Formats: sequence, structure tokens, C-alpha cells
Amino acid sequence: MNDVDGTGNGELPSTAGYGEAAEQLAVQYESVSFAEVHGELLHHYPAPPAAVLDIGAGTGRDAAALAALGHRVVAAEPTPELRAHGERLHAGTGIRWLPDALPGLPGLLAEGERYDLVLLTAVWMHLTPAERPPAMDALATLLAPGGRLALTLRHGPVPPGRRMFDLPPEHTVDLATDRGLRLLHRTTRGDLHGRGAVHWTELVFERPAGSTPVGDS
Ligand SMILES: C[S@@+](CC[C@H](N)C(=O)[O-])C[C@H]1O[C@@H](n2cnc3c(N)ncnc32)[C@H](O)[C@@H]1O
Repeated sequence: MNDVDGTGNGELPSTAGYGEAAEQLAVQYESVSFAEVHGELLHHYPAPPAAVLDIGAGTGRDAAALAALGHRVVAAEPTPELRAHGERLHAGTGIRWLPDALPGLPGLLAEGERYDLVLLTAVWMHLTPAERPPAMDALATLLAPGGRLALTLRHGPVPPGRRMFDLPPEHTVDLATDRGLRLLHRTTRGDLHGRGAVHWTELVFERPAGSTPVGDS
């Protein structure tokens, strides 16, 4: 059971279907490389050593690759079964794992650390339209001045048992720019796992270097 939302109600609606499929998903997530997933975006990522936060980190494929490059990496993953796979598969890499979850990310906000790179790879589509504004508030707060936020958005049919929302990318772009973030990159790509009906939008935003971090005013 999972109480990361602090309600005592157990599993989050947004993580529906992940715990029971974790064994198979661990194989799927680790079957592609960090370079394959992030290739188009890598030139937007900071040079090591930087403070990196991977939210919805799954089994830690990307967190481990970034730690190997010399970054200080925090991996937030609310599905205990996926977190356990990640801790086992990438033991000794220096990743710090947390059970925090969007939209509130209460643990990370309470720590007060700011990040040079925040990743949400295949995560944002799990949030309801109502959850997205407070989630973007939390993300903007967690970004250091000059920090980058990279998101991928899934488009296409929803797998059985999962909760996902296929919203136009403009919705997310507006939420980010309303909070002072600047759009650096927008591309569309196919699915790395060969699902023909699925495609992805990739977005990278920056908190301008001279700006006051949200929540620090
Ligand atoms: C499709 S998987 C992607 C995992 C990983 N980022 C990757 O690319 O392999 C989606 C992940 O989002 C996580 N997730 C779902 N709801 C979340 C929430 N409210 N906050 C943070 N992560 C969430 C799930 O537990 C799962 O690990």
C-alpha cells in the first residue's frame, strides 16, 4: 500500500495498474537506453555535476544514467514495486530514492532543494486537468534559476487499467509559461516500444537565470 498523498487512502489513482505489472514493466523500461529516450533533448541538459530530479522515475533507468555521468540524482517514484526494482537494479549508483508524488510533491518541497534539471518522462499524462496547475506550481518551485524541466506527453489509446489523459501540448505549454518558464524545445516522436498508435510530445522549459524561484519571494 502507498500513502504518499498523505490521505491514508492507499494507492494513488494516477499510479493505477503499475504495481501489479511492475515485474514486466521493469523489463520493458530497462530495454531502452537513456540515450534512446532523451537523444533529441540531451543538448538542453546541464553538464555534470548538477542537481537532477527524476519524477516518476520508474525503475531508475534515466536516474542511473545521469548519476553515472556525475550528477547528484534524486528519484521520486510513488509506486513501491517499481521503486523496489529500481533500488535493486541500480544499487550502488548513488541515486537517492523518495516516494513523493505529484501534484503536491510534499517531501521534496519540504526539503527546500532546487534542481538544475527536472525530468518527467512519460508521467505528466497521468495527472487530471485539475491536478496539473498545482503540479506545475510545485515543478516551477523546485527549479533553480537557469534550471530545465523536460517532459514527455503520451498521445494515443489508454492501456486497460491505467488512468491517463491525452491533452493537447498547448495546455502544458500555457501552464509552464504562465509560471515564468520559457519553452526551449518542442518535438514529436514515435514510440520506442513499437506501439503504432502511440506517439509522444517532448517539451523542455527553462526557468530564466535572472528570475526569482517560485516560492522564494
Ligand atoms: C510510464 S511510467 C515511466 C517511468 C520512467 N519515467 C520511464 O521513463 O521509464 C510512469 C511513471 O509515473 C509514475 N507516476 C504515476 N503517477 C505519479 C504521480 N502522481 N507522481 C509521480 N509519479 C507518478 C508511475 O508510478 C510510473 O513510474
